[in-house]
Amino acid sequence: MKKVVMKINGKSHQFIVEPDRVLLDLLREDMLLTGAKQSCDRKGQCGACTVIVNGKAVRSCLQKVANLDGAEVITVEGLGTPDNPHLIQEAYVLSGAVQCGFCTPGMIMSTKALLDRNPNPDVEEIKKALEHNLCRCTGYAKIIDAVTLAGRFIRGETTPDKVRPDPNGPKIGVSHPRPSAMIKACGVAAFSADIKLQDALELAVVRSTEHHAKIKSINTSEAEKMPGVMGIMTADDIKGTNRIVIIFPDQPILCKDKVQCLGDPIAIVAAQTKNQAVAAAEAVKITYEPLPVLKNPREAMAEGAIQIHQEWPNLCFAQPQIKGDAEKAIAASAVVVEANFTTQINHQAPLEPEATVAYIEGEGEDAQLVVVGRSIQIHGMMANLQEALGYENVRYEEAYSGGQFGIKAAMTSEGISGAAALHFKRSVRYIPSLAESMLLTNKRHAFDMKVKLAADKDGKLTAFTIEYIVDNGAYQIIGIYVIMRAMWMLSGSYNIPNINAMGKLVYTNNPAGGAARGAGPPQVTFALESAMDMLAEKIGMDPFKFRKINSLLPGQSVSTGMVYEQWPFPELCDAFQPSYDRAKKEAADLKSGPIRRGVGIATHAFGIGGPGDAGRVAVELDPDDGITIFAAVADPGEGNDSMLTQIASHVGGIPMNKIRLVTRDTDHTAEMGPAAASRMTYMAGGSLILALEQLKKAMEEVGSKTYEGLRKAGKATHYVGSKQAAGQEGPLDPVTGQGPSFESRVHNIQMAEVEVNTDTGEVRVIKMTTAVDAGTVINPHNLEGQLHGGIDQGVGYALREEYIHGKTNDWNTFKFPTMKTSFPMDVIIKETPRVKGPLGATGIGEMTMVSTAPAVINAIYDACGVRIYNLPATPEKIKAALTAKK
Ligand code: FES
Ligand code: FES
Repeated sequence: MKKVVMKINGKSHQFIVEPDRVLLDLLREDMLLTGAKQSCDRKGQCGACTVIVNGKAVRSCLQKVANLDGAEVITVEGLGTPDNPHLIQEAYVLSGAVQCGFCTPGMIMSTKALLDRNPNPDVEEIKKALEHNLCRCTGYAKIIDAVTLAGRFIRGETTPDKVRPDPNGPKIGVSHPRPSAMIKACGVAAFSADIKLQDALELAVVRSTEHHAKIKSINTSEAEKMPGVMGIMTADDIKGTNRIVIIFPDQPILCKDKVQCLGDPIAIVAAQTKNQAVAAAEAVKITYEPLPVLKNPREAMAEGAIQIHQEWPNLCFAQPQIKGDAEKAIAASAVVVEANFTTQINHQAPLEPEATVAYIEGEGEDAQLVVVGRSIQIHGMMANLQEALGYENVRYEEAYSGGQFGIKAAMTSEGISGAAALHFKRSVRYIPSLAESMLLTNKRHAFDMKVKLAADKDGKLTAFTIEYIVDNGAYQIIGIYVIMRAMWMLSGSYNIPNINAMGKLVYTNNPAGGAARGAGPPQVTFALESAMDMLAEKIGMDPFKFRKINSLLPGQSVSTGMVYEQWPFPELCDAFQPSYDRAKKEAADLKSGPIRRGVGIATHAFGIGGPGDAGRVAVELDPDDGITIFAAVADPGEGNDSMLTQIASHVGGIPMNKIRLVTRDTDHTAEMGPAAASRMTYMAGGSLILALEQLKKAMEEVGSKTYEGLRKAGKATHYVGSKQAAGQEGPLDPVTGQGPSFESRVHNIQMAEVEVNTDTGEVRVIKMTTAVDAGTVINPHNLEGQLHGGIDQGVGYALREEYIHGKTNDWNTFKFPTMKTSFPMDVIIKETPRVKGPLGATGIGEMTMVSTAPAVINAIYDACGVRIYNLPATPEKIKAALTAKK
C-alpha cells in the first residue's frame, strides 16, 4: 500500500492505494468521475479513458496511481459543466461530433492537451494528437472539424454564440445540437457501466471453451468457497423458458445440457467484487463430451452432418425469388458475366462493452425487476425477459449507449443480469470485458454467393441470378429477416426484368449472425455491384454510364415485383457526374509505377418502411404548454432525439426547449419496434406527426393552444399517432419471392478513390464521395454524421475487418478504424421529398455502409486490374492476385 496525494480537477486528495491500482479505477470507482470510459481491456487501445496528467493527455488505464504522487489530474468533468461548458466541449457539440458520445470525453481531453500546446493545429497534427482515441460512429470527420472549431474559439476568431443555430429560427434543415450532446461532452451522461447501485453484486459468467459439445457435469464446489462469492447459478435456477428469442427460441440464457458455440454461457457467479467473481468463474469445472464442429454452411448441409438443434434442420430456411425467366433471358443475352463472391463474419464493433445492471424495485407483489442496458428495442427486450425468466413485472430502461450498429437488436447480457437479480434477490452489475463482449454478441452474417448478370448489346440489363448461402451461426437472431431484406432490395437501383434468386440460411457452430448496419443488402450488393463493373467492362462501357442507363424508372418494378412511383436515381446521377469526371481525370495521370490510382463506384436503393412496419408515438401537452413525447425510440447515436425534437417543434410550433422526451423506459412508452433498419425517422417521425396533428386539431376546435384551454373545453391533452407502412399485404410469396418491398427508398452513389501499392498490395483510400437522396433533410450534421460513419465502416469491411471467433478479442485483432486510417469524405445531397415520408424525409443510418465495399473493390480493380471476390481485400490477397496475374 502506498500513500499518494494528487490534485484532481483542482482539489487535493489523499489516497492509500495498492501497487497495481490504476488511475481509471480510482477515478470511476472511488471518485465517481465516470466521464473517463473503458472500452478496451485496459490495453491502451481505445483512448476512451484519456485524462490529462501534468499537462499531458494519458490513457488512465495505463497509469498506476502509486506513481502519481504530487500529480495534477484533469478529467472531462473538470473542464466544464453542461451549464458552463468549456469551449472545446462547445465545439464538439456544435460541430455534430458527438454521436453515441462514448468516445467523446477521451477525445475532448486529447484535444485539450493538443490545443494547450498548439492552438492552431493542422489536420495532420490533429490526427497525430488523437491517434490513440478510437471512434466507431463518426469516421473521425466531424471530430477533426470539432478540434478545428475549438482552435478558432480558443484563438478568439469566433464564438459559440456566433456558430450556434438560432433556437427560435427554422427547425428543419438546421443542425441544432442534439439534446444529449452536451451532457455527453461533459462526461455526465450515464452509460450502463456508469450506474452505481448500492451493495450491488458483481457478476461473472462461466463460458464454454468448446464450439460444440454436450455438458456432462458442472462442478461449482471449489468456486463456491472462494472469497467474496455470494452464490453460483445455473440453468436450473431460471424459472422461465430460459430462451432468447426474436424468431426461433433456440438460444438459452444459460446452457443446460449442450453448448452450440464457443463462449456459450453456462453458469453465473455473483461475488462482492468483480475480481472475486471472475476468479470464482475460472474455478468452476465443466466436463464436456465434444461433438463435431460445423465450421461453415457447406459442411453443415453435407449429408450426414450432425444436426445442431434438435428442433430445426441445419438448412433452416430457404426463400426463392423469381421474376420473369432469367435462364431464358441469359441464353438470349449478348453479354454475361459469372462469378462467386464471399463476405466475412464481421463484428459491428460498438465501442462500449455489453454492460447491464439489474435490481428489484418494490416489495411483495409489487416487486418489479428493473433491467438497465443498451437495447434498441426496449419493449421486445422486456417481453423476452418476462418469458425467459418467468417473471411478469419487468421494466427495461435504456441507458446512454456507446454505439450498437445492429448488435443490440438482440439480447446480449440482459438475460444474465435479470436472471441473477431474481435468483440472488440483490442488485447486480454485469460488466463483461471487451473480449467477453465479443464472444457473447451476434455478428454480421457471412454470405457465399454465386452470381450471373447479363445484358443486351446496347448495355441494357436483361437478367440476374444469384444463390446466396448465409451462415446463420449457432442461433437464429434475425437470420430469416436478413435473407428477406437481401431479397426486398436485391435489384438495387436498377431495372432488371428477369431475376432468379435463392437465399438459404444454415446453422453452423459459428457466432450467431445478427443485425449489422445494412443486414443483408451490404453482402448481396457487393456481389451485384462487382458484377456490374465486370459486365460494363465486357460491354466496353463506362461503369457509371452503364449504371445510369439501367436505372429503374418510375412505374417499373423491383425484384419483388413492387412498382415505385418515385425513383430519383437518374437525377442523383446528374448531380454526381462532375465529381466522377474529376476523379477519373485525376486518376488517369497515375496509372504507371508501383502506386496506381483507381476510381470505383457502386450504388444502392435502400428500403425504408418495410412490409407491415408500424410505429406508435404519444404526445402530451404539458401544463406549461410544452410537449412531452412518449416513444420507445432508442438513440444510441443516430440522432433520433434530435429528429423527434425538431419535428415536434416544427409541426407543433412549440419552442425546442419545451419539447421533452421520454423514450428510454418501458413503463412510460408503447412498442415502437427497433431503432434499426434506418426506420426511426420514417416510422417514429411519421407517427409523431400523426399524434401532433390530432393535438393541433383539438386546439383548433377549442380555439386555444394552451393546456388550460384544452382542459377547460374538456378536450384530451394526450394523443397517440401510429404510422403504418404501406406494404401490409404480408411477406414475400414463399415460391416466387414476389410481394411488397419497402414503402420508400433512399438513393445513393458511392465513389472510392484509392491508391494501390502494387509491390505490397496495400490500399490507401484517398477520398470517398457519397451522393445521396434521402428526401427532406431534418438535421444536416446528423445526416452527414450517419453518412460518414457508414462509409468508414464500409471501408473497414472492404479492406480490413474480419471477426474470427476465439481469436478476435480486442481492438488490435479486430483492426478497428483509427484516425490514421481515416480519409476525407465528400457529401453530395439531393432532397426529393418523399410522398409518404414525414415532412418528406426517409432514413439514412445504413445507406452508405451498403455500397461502400463494392465501390472500394471496383476502385482496386480500376487501379491495378485485379478483382477481389472474397472480402476483406487484405494486402496479402491483393498481392497474391497481382502475382497470379503476371
Ligand atoms: S481503457 Fe484505457 S485505452 Fe482503453
Ligand atoms: S461518437 Fe465516437 S464512438 Fe460513438
